[in-house]
Amino acid sequence: MPDLDFHPSARTPDLDLQAVDSLQVNRLDPKLLYVTPQQAGLWRKVFLRHSPIHHNPEFARIYRDAFSHGLNSLPPGKILLVGLGCGTGAKELQLFESLRDSGHEVLFAAIDVSPDLVVESVEKLVAAGAVHRRSLVCDLLQSDFLGNWLDRLESDLPRLITFFGLVPNLAPSVVARIFRSVLRPGDTLLVNAHLAPVESDDPNDLASAMQAVLPQYDNPETRAWLAAALDHLGIEDQVDPPEISIGQVESIPAFLAASRWKIRDPFATPLQLFHSLRYTLPLFENMLRREGFRADRLSLTSCRQEAIWSIRHAVVY
Ligand SMILES: C[S@@+](CC[C@H](N)C(=O)[O-])C[C@H]1O[C@@H](n2cnc3c(N)ncnc32)[C@H](O)[C@@H]1O
Repeated sequence: MPDLDFHPSARTPDLDLQAVDSLQVNRLDPKLLYVTPQQAGLWRKVFLRHSPIHHNPEFARIYRDAFSHGLNSLPPGKILLVGLGCGTGAKELQLFESLRDSGHEVLFAAIDVSPDLVVESVEKLVAAGAVHRRSLVCDLLQSDFLGNWLDRLESDLPRLITFFGLVPNLAPSVVARIFRSVLRPGDTLLVNAHLAPVESDDPNDLASAMQAVLPQYDNPETRAWLAAALDHLGIEDQVDPPEISIGQVESIPAFLAASRWKIRDPFATPLQLFHSLRYTLPLFENMLRREGFRADRLSLTSCRQEAIWSIRHAVVY
């Protein structure tokens, strides 16, 4: 078993309190979808069945391209690779292999709210030859401690940080706050965003782009994964099964999942379970610029559904 630190934000009593807070505002905190081993397993199924990376070679190609372009700007030698919201660690493994093959010595740290997924990622990268000292189970939304934790782990090495699969579920201001807490001048963060594959500014174009992507969300595996959170919270009898729709969050196109309250409707609106933002390229790049980051687009699928950027502080101190 690898050495893990557990931040209080991911300990069970704290998560229970956050579940209560979530229900009070009628909106699930996204990390409550991943906390139990069963939820981690159901999410893995959704990922394997519906993530286009398993069906369309273009989605794997953009990671290969990004990993080889992204490495050009790194100093040679030893590097700290940090997987934020690492999931199964599959992408970090691929990045580690590129780093190793280009002569870097890699110290790896996994950070996720799910202890099972942290362990799975660490075991994968250690088996491939990465050095591991400690990893962290925590809530990234309470990210103020992250910079200190990373400094204590290793303050002198350049950092290469991954942030894959998280942008769709977080508000833009939260993404920017997390980036600020982990990135020092000179560090690099690789981030992907899922996109509405539009060709123009025409609203009809956006509507048909979102319809084309909807089956990635509106499917039995995703509904089973979302329903597991309702079971975990003990409210499965009080709400209808999750429904998936197309809408907006903070003016960004999004897929939304919600369950209607059955017994009474105390909030007059369904319980919001999940959202997945689908930025357009200008929406995402303008947001990063406004928040003070330099974003270099490294790769984009030919279907325009996903892109990867390297992020650095815009101002070098
Ligand atoms: C959609 S998955 C992406 C996993 C992986 N990075 C990938 O691209 O395949 C989101 C990951 O972020 C983690 N996560 C979600 N919310 C989190 C939070 N608030 N704090 C820490 N981890 C979180 C989940 O446990 C899950 O592993």
